[in-house]
Amino acid sequence: MFFCFLPQFTLSYNFLVFCPLFAHSHHQFLAKIADTLTEAGHNVTFFAPILVREYENVKYLEYTKDIIYIQPDEELEKMGEAADYSNFWKEDAGMFSFVPAVQRFFKMFVKLNENLEKDLSVLDKLKDRNFDAMIFETLAFCAHPIHEYLGIKTIFPSFSMTHMTEISKAIGEPTSPSFLPTTVSPYAGQMTFKERLLNTLGDFIFTHILKPPSLKSFRGDKEYLDSNEIQAKAPFVFINSNTFLDFPRPMLAKTINIGGISVNVTQMRQEKLSSKYNEILNERSQTVLISFGSMIRSSEMPQEYKKTIVKVIESFPAVTFLWKYESENVEFSKKVKNLHFSKWFPQTALLADSRLTAFITHAGLGSVNELSYMGKPAILVPIFADQMRNAKMLARHNGSITLRREDLGVFENLRSAVNSILNDKR
Ligand SMILES: *[C@@H]1O[C@H](CO)[C@@H](O)[C@H](O)[C@H]1NC(C)=O
Ligand SMILES: *[C@@H]1O[C@H](CO)[C@@H](O)[C@H](O)[C@H]1NC(C)=O
Ligand SMILES: *[C@@H]1O[C@H](CO)[C@@H](O)[C@H](O)[C@H]1NC(C)=O
Repeated sequence: MFFCFLPQFTLSYNFLVFCPLFAHSHHQFLAKIADTLTEAGHNVTFFAPILVREYENVKYLEYTKDIIYIQPDEELEKMGEAADYSNFWKEDAGMFSFVPAVQRFFKMFVKLNENLEKDLSVLDKLKDRNFDAMIFETLAFCAHPIHEYLGIKTIFPSFSMTHMTEISKAIGEPTSPSFLPTTVSPYAGQMTFKERLLNTLGDFIFTHILKPPSLKSFRGDKEYLDSNEIQAKAPFVFINSNTFLDFPRPMLAKTINIGGISVNVTQMRQEKLSSKYNEILNERSQTVLISFGSMIRSSEMPQEYKKTIVKVIESFPAVTFLWKYESENVEFSKKVKNLHFSKWFPQTALLADSRLTAFITHAGLGSVNELSYMGKPAILVPIFADQMRNAKMLARHNGSITLRREDLGVFENLRSAVNSILNDKR
């Protein structure tokens, strides 16, 4: 009996979670993995080089205490500051509009890699911890010289979105673009011939032209590290896809779908709303929350969209609207009575409250997961990256209506969608 119980006390591993801070949803995902392992009794080190300053002071980790930040040098800091997503309000939202953003991320990762190589003392300190395994996002290809230098034999490439063609290809999963939407594809489900063709073109561009560069080893021999070859040997790949929600596809058993890991339904239901929000929810019998997330700012949307949204809100005097808006200057709203602005809303608590009727959002994966766990109706207005795919994924289950970004400027389209989401029993 004694020996049977022994493993319980000894099977704890040393994990390194590598998470360069560059975009909110990516840290949230990796932090949740880190916390899950910490809670299970493992020793987790969260290694977070700062690329974009605004994420430095956001608390992502609850249980993992061992966090190592690295400050960016001046050049890297400038690259991080240059990130501007307001263009996505104006540019064509097709899948190729995301190409420059991906290229910018790549440049930051290459620069981070150079900085790490210049001063290897940070990594040398980590060496003593004898990590058993390292977890990182496959997008952050600068992870490879790190685990190679630290001599970490086991790696778990992960991805904070639903599906990445590259990693599937690396491990040997079929990814035919004729039926499977790529990571940032706006086409999915029942595709027309033209859509299949564009999806295939997108797949080609993202896997061949936007291929992450191979980086050199930090050891003396300066050998190039082939990301595909390395990732092919990974025992598991964790992705933010939920089997019930996502499009079906052929998968290997080493791909583990952990979509929804960041949604804690019990916790969402237990959250208490402050009296301020309680009063707001009691104002009228129906309430709608509008939020476009943290990267795409409502305050930066074209004036025409703002005016149309306000006009639609005015046309529903019996419904209260809450709008996450990042600026104090809301003159365009003409003091509409049934509209509340705020820079921040308790989103999860509101979504869990039965008095909230619907959510109008940008279809970020975090929100889409929360919506589906809560069964809350939504109007999804995807703006960029994987949001088009996420919107299609949720709409397939008939819980949401998808609008094009341009519809925010067309009164009839927006009004009719809001009317359906409030009144259509389906
Ligand atoms: C966990 O990590 C800390 C910090 O590196 C180290 O001091 C400790 O010995 C580790 N514990 C185990 C069980 O490896
Ligand atoms: C979810 O939240 C509840 C209440 O806060 C907590 O007791 C539980 O441990 C959480 N579950 C997970 C998997 O984190
Ligand atoms: C969604 O609605 C359509 C049209 O009403 C219907 O054909 C389809 O079966 C529904 N799908 C689900 C998953 O309920």
